[in-house]
Parts: sequence; C-alpha cells; structure tokens
Amino acid sequence: MTARPMREARVHLDAISANVETLRRLIRTDHAMAVVKARGYGHGAVPSARAALAGGADWLGVVDIVEALELRDAGITAPILAWLHDPHFDFAPAIVRGIDVGIGSLQQLHQAASAGSAASGIPDVHLKVDTGLGRGGIGFADCEAVFAAAADHERNGRLRVRGLFSHLANAGAADDAAQVAAFEHASALAFSAGLQPELRHLAATAGALRVPAARFDLVRLGIGIYGLSPFDDQSGIEFGLRPALELSAAIVSVKRVPAGTGVSYGHRYRTTSATTLALVPLGYAEGIPRQASNRGPVSINGRVHRIAGSIAMDQFVVDVGDASVAVGDRAVLFGDPAAGAPSAEDWATASDTINYEIVTRLGGRLEYRYWP
Ligand SMILES: Cc1ncc(COP(=O)(O)O)c(C=O)c1O
Repeated sequence: MTARPMREARVHLDAISANVETLRRLIRTDHAMAVVKARGYGHGAVPSARAALAGGADWLGVVDIVEALELRDAGITAPILAWLHDPHFDFAPAIVRGIDVGIGSLQQLHQAASAGSAASGIPDVHLKVDTGLGRGGIGFADCEAVFAAAADHERNGRLRVRGLFSHLANAGAADDAAQVAAFEHASALAFSAGLQPELRHLAATAGALRVPAARFDLVRLGIGIYGLSPFDDQSGIEFGLRPALELSAAIVSVKRVPAGTGVSYGHRYRTTSATTLALVPLGYAEGIPRQASNRGPVSINGRVHRIAGSIAMDQFVVDVGDASVAVGDRAVLFGDPAAGAPSAEDWATASDTINYEIVTRLGGRLEYRYWP
C-alpha cells in the first residue's frame, strides 16, 4: 500500500453512492440530478458524478458548459444540464455533445437556437424562471414573451424545451410555498404557450427534503449527496447521510514550549502553561479559512484540539497540551463525526460560514485520494 500523502482529501465514493440511494428513498421523484458543479463541491467532479450515478442519480447538474464538457470528456454519457453561461460562449459544443442548457433570458434563447442551426443540431433547453430567488432566471414580466418565442423555435425545429425550472431561496416555509405557487403559475403560462416541458424542477437538497410540493419531476441534489446538511441549523444527520470527504495531514513537527510562548503571526495565541505544539502543513492556500484561526477543531489520535494562533498560507499550529503526539501522526480537520472526526459544519461554525464553502474552497496542494 502506498503511504498516505502529507496533505490528503480522502473521498469515500461509496458514501456518495449511499447518500444518493438514501435521498432517492426519502424523496420519491421520477428523476434525481446529482449536482457536481464546482469540482463536485470540492470532492472531484468526475469521480463524484460516477459515484452518484452508481447510487441511482440519472441526471448531472453543473454550472457551465466547460464543467459539462469535462464530464463528457471523461466518458460520462448521462444527461447533463448546465445553467449559467458566459455571455460570449458558443452553445454549439453543448449541442454537439448532448448537453442540455438552462436558459434564463430571451437573448440566451435566441443564442441557443442559432447555435443549434450553426451546429446542425437541436439544443435541448430548460427554461429557468425566477420564482422569487431574485437571482438569475426569466422574470415574470418576460415569461409570456420568452415562452412564446420558445414555442416558435420549437415549432420550427430550432430547439426543444425539455425542462422548466427554478430555484428556491430557502427563506422559510411561507416563501417556499409562494415560490411553489409561482412555479405552478409559470408552468401554466408555459403550457398555454404550447410548451410541454417533460421535466419540471424546483427543489435542491433542502427543498427536496422539507418541501414535498417542490419535488415535481426531478430534484437537484447537491450538498446532500456529499453527506452534508443543507440546513442553517445544520441538521441532517437524522436523514442518515454520511460525509464523504475527510481532510487530514501528517504532523510535520512537534515541540515542547514553556508558558508564555507566542504562536504564529501576530501572536494571537500565547501558551498559558508548558505545552506541546504540533505543526500541520495546511494553510489558506489549501482553502483552510484563516477565519478559523484560534478556533478550528483538529482531531489527533482520537482527541479534538483547537488551532493555536493564526492560520498561515501553508501551515498552522495545534496546542495539544500534554497529549502524546508524534511527527507523522494524522491531524484530521473534518470528516465523518460518526467516526469521531470534527465535521465540516464544525469548521463552518468556527469560520462564520456554511459547510458548502468549507468543502468547495479546498484545493492548493491537497492530494485527492478516492476510496474504495
Ligand atoms: C440551480 C441549482 N440547483 C441545485 C443546486 C444544489 O443545491 P444544494 O447543494 O443545496 O442541494 C444549486 C446549488 O447551489 C443550484 O444553484
């Protein structure tokens, strides 16, 4: 067996497959899209996509066509939807490689139709409506015009409207209900324009779990497939999801220091008694949030300690007290709490952010290892 890398992001692909199975059991829809944008939320897009498909996902979701092409280049043939586009991007490669595109404006609709003619193909599009997130998507004022234009393109064989979709703001039960109602209204407008989208989709992980009325034909599952909670209160364990990523590094130096020793830049930490300091070779260059300085939890030999002082670009220090720690022992930043590791949620709390950001920002010199 090869030695573990000094800095390791270990991704348990069986956990991703199992999480998809669990979510599919809990959320009974005809279709489940695994969202693998942003390098699979920092887990690796291609391996995560394969694991999710093995677990029962039948669609993949990404942000842009570049991400979609990466999946196709890896030999993944499952249906893919990409929904955020460079204004100057040519849709032709998406059409040629069978990638569905999300369309959020009249201009994009026409762009997709003319790219289809140029590529001698018929783009499959999903019209994206803004039902209340206040972000991208066709505003209600424009729905009728865009739907009419889409129906016209469809009649003339310039594109197919396969989907109608929107995204929830997760702003509470009343807002969820209002968005579901707005989506129904948009659907009625689409039907009366002559469109028959076979896939209507609104919910991501949170909505899929908590808002049954938002499930429609397909749910777009992102954070949940990686075993993390979509909820602000960070609940989710009750759904039986298992975090897929464990972040760890080998301790590279250990030293005993006296009371009063200042630690790391700015001496934002000073030892209060004689103690042992362990050096971990991970820093903000790997995506470890500097905000977690003096706060981030780290498990070493089964005991959780706190980071001492500022997280630097390449390294940070842990005050392990009188615990017995040696060079080469593993420092686990987060992983599966059921196995005793701190969670990505613990790191989110320590960094005043959300678990999504903790995993997605990982990178730098980390080496990824996929299990099994
Ligand atoms: C349009 C869209 N659908 C689905 C998702 C997946 O969301 P989640 O990770 O909360 O399941 C996202 C992620 O931000 C998204 O932008």
